[in-house]
Formats: sequence, structure tokens, C-alpha cells
Amino acid sequence: MTDASNGAPAFVVRAPSATYPVYVEWGALDRIGGRLLETSLRGPVYVVSDSTVAWMYAGRVEQALGKAGLESHFYTVPAGEASKSLANAGELYAWLAEHRCERGSTIVALGGGMVGDLAGFVAATFLRGVAVVQAPTSLAAMVDASIGGKTAVNLPAGKNLVGAFYQPRMVAADLTTLRSLSSREMASGWAEAIKHGLILDPSLYRLFEERVEDLLDLEPEITEEVVRRSMAIKGRIVEEDERETLGRRTLLNYGHTIGHGLEAATEYGSLLHGEAVSVGMAAVGEIGHTMGLISREEVERYIAVLRGFGLPVRAPGVDPVSVLAAMKMDKKASGRRINWVLLEEIGRAVVRSDVPDDLAEATVRAVCSPDD
Ligand code: GLY
Repeated sequence: MTDASNGAPAFVVRAPSATYPVYVEWGALDRIGGRLLETSLRGPVYVVSDSTVAWMYAGRVEQALGKAGLESHFYTVPAGEASKSLANAGELYAWLAEHRCERGSTIVALGGGMVGDLAGFVAATFLRGVAVVQAPTSLAAMVDASIGGKTAVNLPAGKNLVGAFYQPRMVAADLTTLRSLSSREMASGWAEAIKHGLILDPSLYRLFEERVEDLLDLEPEITEEVVRRSMAIKGRIVEEDERETLGRRTLLNYGHTIGHGLEAATEYGSLLHGEAVSVGMAAVGEIGHTMGLISREEVERYIAVLRGFGLPVRAPGVDPVSVLAAMKMDKKASGRRINWVLLEEIGRAVVRSDVPDDLAEATVRAVCSPDD
């Protein structure tokens, strides 16, 4: 990997539809203007953000863009998943048109996953495509959603039902933004990062075991390394299977089958996404072990890591029947079988569709059973 301080990106994603640099730095937002110019991105720049993020970072971004001689306009949506709607996309199109956004302009998504999805979707569709830069300000958005070009809005009928694969032209992750996140939001992001180690990179996974205290304290060097390596794993998977047609990108769904079921059963109200994924990863470890894949010791080892990062590994009190119903509805189910991602060992994942229904059901019931 290249040293980011000399101006080089942390890494470059070379997906079939686009090649783009990824910067992972303490202070990336203060350099974003120069980085846009280096990437041949032009102004005016249309920065889309939410009400929580805007007051913290819009000033810094405006200054950085101004320093690079780039004209900028700012648009803020209310914080929260409800903003990821077609109605909001419509208002954003109108605002872009009013402020003369052209094909050669640049949209910057400054925020967490919601902003990245909404602004990315609008960028994919306005004028049939305007360049978008992802500037994630949550750990979850850094290690997962900012890379890979999945953009979407929600419909009343379900989440992410309207969207597009539309790769960003640059990703700028400013690690200083992590300092303002709550411990729950951080834990939720760590769950996705730990997942990347579990599915593909045992040496990254070991850093979570060995450096938990330093990571919880956001020690600069190890935080930068772990976030960068986790983002690079996401980038590599996207290079290999941009549109999730070859099974490779499906590996990113480790823990998500039960995780999505838990989120839906609780109406997206009580568990953060990464918390639900953490419970899902703990549960699916048991399934993998019962099916003769991963050893119990390894499952217990990584469950201890999840706990160490303050993550839940069970969901007592959630209605298992609702979880199972939601899992059956999940769009990742192919035909009548669910594609489960299982671990053969830490760092090696496989997709299996032969998990017996009664094993899945017993596992969900165990996860949801009240604590002793
Ligand atoms: N978050 C999973 C993916 O981007 O494919």
C-alpha cells in the first residue's frame, strides 16, 4: 500500500465500469478540493449532506473546495433513513436543475450510508449520470457502502427497491469524523470491518483480536491501517464481481441473512445494521459448525471479538417467527432456497444453499430466546 501522506491514494479500485482512487486519511475532508482536481473532477460541486453531518463538516468542505478554486453549493436532508425516499430524490433533482448542475459537474455525498445511497442514486440518474464522490463520515459507510456503487432509495414496499449500480469517481474517508460517532455507531461499523477479516483476511481479523483496546481508543496508526485494509477488501471484491453475479460479492452478506431478518422483525427500530449483522454472524457460526465446517473454538473466538467491540451476539425477546418470515422474503433468497454465507475457517467463506430449514429455524429460535 502507498503512503497516503504523499498525496497518493490508499488504493485504487479497478472495477469493470470504473477506476477510482480511495483516500483514507486523518483530515481527508480538508484536502478534498485538491483531490478532486487531481482526479480530473470539476466544479461546480454539489455537496449533499444530512442535518447532523452538515453542521459539523460542511464548513470544512466549503473551505477546502474554495481553496482549490471550486464553486460549491450545499443541500441538506433531515438525518435518518426516512430521507432515503423518491420524494427527496425528486426535490434534489429540482435543486440541482435550479443551481445549473451539468454533466461535467460533481456531486459529493458527505455523510453516512443514507446520504451515500440517496446522493449516489441521484447522481446516477440526474442528466443520465453526474460524477459522484463518496465522502463517508461513519465507520460503516467507510468500510462498506462508500465503495462498490450500490445506490438506492426506499419505497413503502421495502428498502432499496429502486436503485442503480453506479461507481463513485473517488472516495475520501476522513478518519477524524470517527471521533464524533457514538460508541454504538462505532461498534456497528466495526462489525462490518470484522466481517471483512472473517470472510477473506485472517491477518486483518487477528488485528481485531490483538488491538481491540487501541482500536476502541482510535489510536491513529492502527485505526488507519484497519480501516484501509477493510476498505481494500471491499474494493477487491467489487473488482471481481461488480454486479454480484458471480457469487464473490455475496460473501459480503456474511451474517446478513439472519441480520436482515432481525432488522425487519424489529422494524428497523431497535438494532443498528451492524448490531444485527453481529448477531447474524454469531448465529451463522453455529450453523456452519453444525454443518461440519468451522470448528467450535473458532466460532467462540470470533464471538468473543464481537463482544469485545461492544456488539450484541444474541437478540433476546425478538419474535423468532417474524425473523423467519422476513428471512424467507429476503431478496437474496434464490428460488426457494436461501443462499447462506458460511465460514469454513476464519478468513475463508463459502456460499451454501443446503442449510436445512430446521437447523435455520432452531438457530433463530436460540438467538431470540430470553436470557437465562
Ligand atoms: N454491502 C454489500 C455490498 O456492497 O455488496
